[in-house]
Amino acid sequence: MGRWNPDIYEKAWVFASRQHNGQSYGGRVAGERVEYINHIGSVAMEIIWALQDNELADSALAVQCALLHDTIEDTGASHALIQAEFGQAVADGVLALSKNTSLDKVQQMPDSLARIRQQPAEIAMVKMADRITNLYHPPHYWDNQKILSYRDEALVIHAALHEANAALAQRLMQKIEAYPQFLRS
Ligand code: NI
Repeated sequence: MGRWNPDIYEKAWVFASRQHNGQSYGGRVAGERVEYINHIGSVAMEIIWALQDNELADSALAVQCALLHDTIEDTGASHALIQAEFGQAVADGVLALSKNTSLDKVQQMPDSLARIRQQPAEIAMVKMADRITNLYHPPHYWDNQKILSYRDEALVIHAALHEANAALAQRLMQKIEAYPQFLRS
């Protein structure tokens, strides 16, 4: 597919902004809500950081999948719509990054990771960037059990995908190791 540029970014950013419009998630302090697009921007930032030292990567694929990674799972966007707008490789990548909610909850992450591993390495990079972003800080309402299980799940993601990109794998492990700082006393 090739190298990303501002026009490629802008098209996917506008699409994601419209799709996630009105969505928010729990912030770091009680009662705080954060616009969902904030998460999307952070994942794209992590990917662009990792692409700096990775000239062989398909940066257009990686950046578009970063911006669109939650559109199938969390909005009304279909694989067919993303394929029509952004092409087959992006649509297939976003689909692999989406949980199959017809499966039991415990099977959804292993199933997604198995499908990501069948995709180009850029898709695994997006999944690691996504989890790095989600480990910045837990939502204010998570208890210690949820914080520890989320950290354990991040270890599973790291084990499955670390070979896709050394810089993101190292950064993910740093976030995993630092995460117990958020346990409530
Ligand atoms: Ni996400």
